[in-house]
Amino acid sequence: MEKVSYKDIGLVTTTEMFAKAMKGKYAIPAYNFNNMEQLQAIVMGCVESKSPFILQVSSGARKYANQTLLRFLAMGAVAMINDAGSPVKFALHLDHGDTLELCKSCVDSGFSSVMIDGSHHSYEDNIKLTKQVVEYAHAHGVVVEGELGVLAGIEDAVSAEKSTYTRPEQVEDFVRKTNVDSLAISIGTSHGAMKFKPEQCTRDSRGVLVPPPLRFDILEEIEKRIPGFPIVLHGASSVVPEYVEIINKNGGALKDAVGIPADQLRKAARSAVCKVNIDSDGRLAMTAMIRKTLAEKPAEFDPRKYLGPARDELIKMIIHKNKEVLGSAGQA
Ligand code: G3H
Ligand code: 13P
Ligand code: ZN
Repeated sequence: MEKVSYKDIGLVTTTEMFAKAMKGKYAIPAYNFNNMEQLQAIVMGCVESKSPFILQVSSGARKYANQTLLRFLAMGAVAMINDAGSPVKFALHLDHGDTLELCKSCVDSGFSSVMIDGSHHSYEDNIKLTKQVVEYAHAHGVVVEGELGVLAGIEDAVSAEKSTYTRPEQVEDFVRKTNVDSLAISIGTSHGAMKFKPEQCTRDSRGVLVPPPLRFDILEEIEKRIPGFPIVLHGASSVVPEYVEIINKNGGALKDAVGIPADQLRKAARSAVCKVNIDSDGRLAMTAMIRKTLAEKPAEFDPRKYLGPARDELIKMIIHKNKEVLGSAGQA
């Protein structure tokens, strides 16, 4: 495949975004996508709320969408934003890169940011792998996110039974030795829609499951050791109860789905957390509307008639997150 730089596509890195977010005490949303309707919703929602954003692609999503088409989708998103006369800028980011080869391939095909997730390796191997990715990426002006500590939860490419919190005493050494630009940490968030087992939760007065609070004590300790360094929160979907209810009412079977409450995310966004990853909530918003529409209109078979409402709901969700949870709205 022909090599292309993110600069030629009109993308930006996260450097300036994170510096402003740190100063302004908000966080940049990183929305995962793998199809056209999700991309349209992310662009429209962030243009409408004037929010900078990170367009995030997992290796599974890259295979699903086709890596060449993906590059042109990102170019199309830049053109769409410019046509709208909007000042919104975005980074194209590889989520959970697991090999040097994959990270290099993304750098070469127009990504402005890559994550190398060496968190499942030993500390020494994580440093070694992350350093190699940083050397290649930085030589091309691309930024790198590393990870220390393991999140629980299961996704296509990311799977761990139990979480291991980030050890604050390692972060300074890791950042210095690898030269990464941002660091994903584990403080109690988790991937997917089933983030916690019911026995880990308490119930509020209405019987709704309340998950254990995030470990802000660990975050504070990390901030003390690497002041002003951009921190990333994965597994940060709230698993919006309204969407879970619509899904279950319309033939779905999402039992015990629990996410991170919005107030915990608001608190994190005011700290050194500069990037908040959201995938599951977008999936739930779309699935809820698709199930509802098809249940209400069983004779419908035009994909636009159910993907359209799904896209509209995702736009609403994104505007809400940017305005009410992360504080990135109006910061473009
Ligand atoms: O953290 C992982 C993301 O939610 C991507 O998931 O590998 O199923 O695309 P995926
Ligand atoms: P959620 O599953 O909570 O949306 O997390 C997504 C994520 O961390 C992608 O890297
Ligand atoms: Zn993740």
